[in-house]
Amino acid sequence: MPSATYDAVWGRVFATVYDAAFALAERRGFRDIRRDLVGRATGRVLELGAGTGLNIAHYSKQVSELVLTEPDWHMAAKLRKRVERGLPVASVLEAAAESIPVDDASFDTVVSTLVLCTVRDPIRVLAEVDRILRPGGAFLFAEHVRSASPRAARWQDRLNRSWSWYACGCQCNRDTALTIEGSSLRTEEIREDRLRWISPVVRPLIVGTATSGV
Ligand SMILES: C[S@@+](CC[C@H](N)C(=O)[O-])C[C@H]1O[C@@H](n2cnc3c(N)ncnc32)[C@H](O)[C@@H]1O
Repeated sequence: MPSATYDAVWGRVFATVYDAAFALAERRGFRDIRRDLVGRATGRVLELGAGTGLNIAHYSKQVSELVLTEPDWHMAAKLRKRVERGLPVASVLEAAAESIPVDDASFDTVVSTLVLCTVRDPIRVLAEVDRILRPGGAFLFAEHVRSASPRAARWQDRLNRSWSWYACGCQCNRDTALTIEGSSLRTEEIREDRLRWISPVVRPLIVGTATSGV
């Protein structure tokens, strides 16, 4: 559990440098992945752990309302600034993905990019996604994951503790595909991809969709 000092000091630095730290990965492919994934969101949309709001630019006119959830107040402050710069359908909700204060079956789409690595309890988060999606609603995700290569996965295990300290709780060795497939959501599609120009421990990526309540 990170201390209040860690949150106040490093949490603030992390939120401040986040966009710059990701700039190369964004330019070398992840921005296109965001655009293709997030562009599929329709209707009432809720995003988990929206961070500084790098997905905002990719939502289409098919989105009638966008609720950007984010539990970290340093990130939430940056997110609010991006929203204020011109997205009338969007609002920011300071909430952790394990317990989101919204009604059952009240959203058409839930989006998660690079969040299931960091949440405290991914199994509970996926149950929460299923709860808040209407039957047939879509869960759209792009998440970095445990490597399929045993050698690379061993390195992820070795480096997980120090990586997690650096990256505000991110666990680089989580088998998130397995967690999604084991959840109550129905997996429609998972494809493997890679994050580029970023630490090798977070390069393996999955991108996909799952459906609620069918
Ligand atoms: C690597 S950042 C990803 C930010 C953004 N989704 C993106 O694609 O750039 C991980 C985010 O998850 C958030 N986070 C951490 N714990 C969380 C939780 N329990 N529920 C929801 N979000 C959480 C962090 O505050 C951070 O904004």
